[in-house]
Amino acid sequence: MNAPILVTGGTGTLGRLVVPLLRDAGHPVRVLSRRGGRPADGVEHVTADLLTGAGVDPAVRGVGTVLHLAGGPKGDDVATRHLVDAARRADVRHLVFISVVGADRVPLAWLRSKQDAERAVAGSGVPWTTLRAAQFHDLTLTMVEKMAKLPVVPIPGGLRLQPVDAREVAARMVKLALGAPAGLVPELAGPRVYGLDELVTGYLTAVGRRRLRLPVRLPGKAGRAYRNGDNLAGPGATLGVRTWEAFLAERLWQPAAG
Ligand SMILES: NC(=O)c1ccc[n+]([C@@H]2O[C@H](COP(=O)([O-])OP(=O)(O)OC[C@H]3O[C@@H](n4cnc5c(N)ncnc54)[C@H](OP(=O)(O)O)[C@@H]3O)[C@@H](O)[C@H]2O)c1
Repeated sequence: MNAPILVTGGTGTLGRLVVPLLRDAGHPVRVLSRRGGRPADGVEHVTADLLTGAGVDPAVRGVGTVLHLAGGPKGDDVATRHLVDAARRADVRHLVFISVVGADRVPLAWLRSKQDAERAVAGSGVPWTTLRAAQFHDLTLTMVEKMAKLPVVPIPGGLRLQPVDAREVAARMVKLALGAPAGLVPELAGPRVYGLDELVTGYLTAVGRRRLRLPVRLPGKAGRAYRNGDNLAGPGATLGVRTWEAFLAERLWQPAAG
């Protein structure tokens, strides 16, 4: 039997899409997360905490390829360093990392920590591949749902997003993981750039609600970077095909009762 492929964060939004694709390609999968999950045919779960490093060495042992998808609002640099150290000790042959479009350009703490994580992967001595992806439709939906709960929705002027379907990101990650280490590959973003206002309007229309909007200005260097579009995919990026509208229609469609 092949060595298992380790998927950190295999229980998350992206990870849950990646694991069945790896299984369909005939690979046994080991999923690493803090809370674990239910084992399935060809899928084992191990618990480890990448932020402290507890349990990471045994999780990586005997693995040839690692897809590093675990992430959180803080500490992705620390977590990634723990993983790459363990991967080096375990002679992993390919480390595949998901990062974020704009990690190298937008001066926000969590993006800086993503960039530090990228550097840890690139400097690990383990053959590697890193893909920067744009914000997933799922996260965009969570964001606009929260905004639409407010009586007046603040709309930061000039803020644009290029959301991408997580299924397309999952398919790309699996293809990269099953190929040879490729370094930093072209970014992956959605098919269209939207103003935040358009994304909110799309959601409100889909759920049949109205809200007042209040234009606001994002302050500081990060605000300037967003207005400049530094969070958007650059030249040479690969664009997905599933639009925000198609995602919304699919996600919000409810069959009529009876
Ligand atoms: N969402 C987006 O729009 C987007 C866009 C571009 C790139 N990305 C990147 O893609 C990756 C996956 O995103 P996602 O939206 O799928 O995330 P998610 O749904 O929040 O899932 C995070 C996963 O990581 C695990 N995890 C978190 N902290 C951990 C820790 N300290 N140790 C071990 N496991 C841990 C979680 O399981 P437990 O909680 O059980 O540990 C879960 O399986 C992240 O690195 C994210 O930065 C996301």
